[in-house]
Amino acid sequence: MENNFIDQDYDAYTAEDHLVWQELNRRQSAMDQRRISKEYLNGVELLQLRESRIPHIATLSEKLSGYTGWSLVPVKGLIPAEDFFNLIIDKRYPVTTVIRKANEIDFSEQPDIFHDILGHLPLLINKRFSDWLIAYSKIAIRYVGNERAVELLARLYWYTYEMGLIVEEQEVKVYGGAIITSANELDNVWDSEVPKHAFNTDFVFRTPYNPFKLQNEYFVINDFTSLYDSLASLENRLRHHLSQVAHNQVGV
Ligand SMILES: [Fe+2]
Repeated sequence: MENNFIDQDYDAYTAEDHLVWQELNRRQSAMDQRRISKEYLNGVELLQLRESRIPHIATLSEKLSGYTGWSLVPVKGLIPAEDFFNLIIDKRYPVTTVIRKANEIDFSEQPDIFHDILGHLPLLINKRFSDWLIAYSKIAIRYVGNERAVELLARLYWYTYEMGLIVEEQEVKVYGGAIITSANELDNVWDSEVPKHAFNTDFVFRTPYNPFKLQNEYFVINDFTSLYDSLASLENRLRHHLSQVAHNQVGV
């Protein structure tokens, strides 16, 4: 696992890289903040993520650990799922060091430092959300060799951590990192034609996704405590769905 880790070669960032960071940040600040979870906005403020230059991951890590005990580890890019879960269980969050190019401002296929930092760090400050992420990872790591289970668990991760919506003060807000870092996705959420379902583990397990397109539907949680509480039945529901697949495969 250790060879996933690299140093953030800060001096290697070019002036253009910092401008890309600045522009992404400017665009995100220009989004309608009333659509965004206040828990998330609180994290942005505490971590002072509106700086105009790419942050030093080590400095940010110190700041974050002062609030939550989480620390950050710089990585090259996506890392194997098992390594990711092991880090999370250890309260170490991997942050990609690379930043997208200027021509990828609107959409970057790979997560970059902007996505990892602005998409995911603010909510680590929320104790309930952080507890959920760790507990989810402890379950998910036990299924890394089971292809179908991985697919189902990825749907859960996708429709919460990346594309999740939450009710705050009786209004729907976004907390998923992939919505928060994409103005197009945020607009898509407010398209009244796009369904928003009440979060339900079985429903999520039955709902495939395409990471390269705007989403066809979203799931709304009532609060982070109910998201956390839903894990109590997660393995039971997972086994149920896996047994259905096995059942269908033998053609009964
Ligand atoms: Fe992400």
